[in-house]
Amino acid sequence: MPMNPQWRLVARPQGLFKESDFRWVEDETPPLEDGQALVRTIYLSLDPTNRGWAAGDTYLPAVPLEGVMRGIAIGKVEESRAPGLAPGDVVQGLLGWQRYAVLPASLLTKLPPIPLPLSAHFGLLGHIGLTAWVGLLQVGQPKEGETLVVSAAAGAVGSLVGQIGKIHGMRVVGIAGSDEKCRWLTEELGFDAAVNYKRAPVFAGLRRECPNGIDVYFDNVGGDTLDTVLSLINLRARVVICGLISQYNATAVPPGPKNLPNLLVKRARMEGFIVLDHIDEAEKASADLIRWHLADRLKYRLDVVHGLEKAPAAVNRLFDGSNTGKLVVRVSEEDA
Ligand SMILES: NC(=O)c1ccc[n+]([C@@H]2O[C@H](COP(=O)([O-])OP(=O)(O)OC[C@H]3O[C@@H](n4cnc5c(N)ncnc54)[C@H](OP(=O)(O)O)[C@@H]3O)[C@@H](O)[C@H]2O)c1
Repeated sequence: MPMNPQWRLVARPQGLFKESDFRWVEDETPPLEDGQALVRTIYLSLDPTNRGWAAGDTYLPAVPLEGVMRGIAIGKVEESRAPGLAPGDVVQGLLGWQRYAVLPASLLTKLPPIPLPLSAHFGLLGHIGLTAWVGLLQVGQPKEGETLVVSAAAGAVGSLVGQIGKIHGMRVVGIAGSDEKCRWLTEELGFDAAVNYKRAPVFAGLRRECPNGIDVYFDNVGGDTLDTVLSLINLRARVVICGLISQYNATAVPPGPKNLPNLLVKRARMEGFIVLDHIDEAEKASADLIRWHLADRLKYRLDVVHGLEKAPAAVNRLFDGSNTGKLVVRVSEEDA
């Protein structure tokens, strides 16, 4: 069996991840047991939720200290003792921050062939596309002519959400952390407007760009931005709590939003969701996402870091905003 370079989690992060929270180990790959497959990682997804998984119990149990860091990845089956999986099959699962994973077939999803590069399973489809699709269409309940605001709008989920809003006839305003990201949103993705929250107070920007108020807010960041949007919502607005990235590295309990009374006054709804609860809808979501993409109505962008050894430094790019689109690590070549 091949040697297996991997990152183990050795300390719970305080604030941003530090490289010393991880240890690089070259381990032996265990021999296969019946029902298991050996998978070589091709793309490792870096996600804001990695921070939560490392820090403690969330919607999944904490990654154990000294255990391989948990990560969603796409890989190729190299050897199999599992019925239904054969060498060459492309699969997705929690392969972890390592070059090889030995897992039971029940924890691996065989990916269907798509008329797009393999990386589209992360940039457009998979957990990212499903999050955008479920969060906006089912939780957000968009209606034509309404105004949608989305934060972290130039990120993986946010960039899809805004475009799906446009496909559904909404006025779409993105919030992002640089002028370059804002230009990408309006000039290439078709957003009606974008507000750089690092340049000027977001309240003034949203007041200017949302003259009819805000009907749907797709929240990826929480904190002050959520509070500001709550002050601008319309009657029966829907506030979709997808993520709270501004709070993931907090070392003290962050203050709650001050403008919650507006939910009452405006008879509005605020609802969170976790994509894992919607896996059975992935096929339907993928069909929509691929159709829109092929019709040139939905673009996606990958931000690719080369080399597993760079994962601990690269994951912090999600928190300093230096990623645009879906952040992934290229661990090995498709046809290695
Ligand atoms: N509910 C679910 O099931 C589910 C599933 C997937 C993802 N999510 C959530 O969706 C959100 C987006 O995830 P993603 O994978 O698409 O990541 P992403 O948006 O590609 O990357 C994160 C972005 O968040 C922004 N950001 C970072 N720190 C911030 C801060 N303090 N204040 C404001 N913005 C900040 C940065 O963009 P700027 O340059 O704009 O600051 C950064 O590029 C995250 O909150 C994630 O946890 C939820």
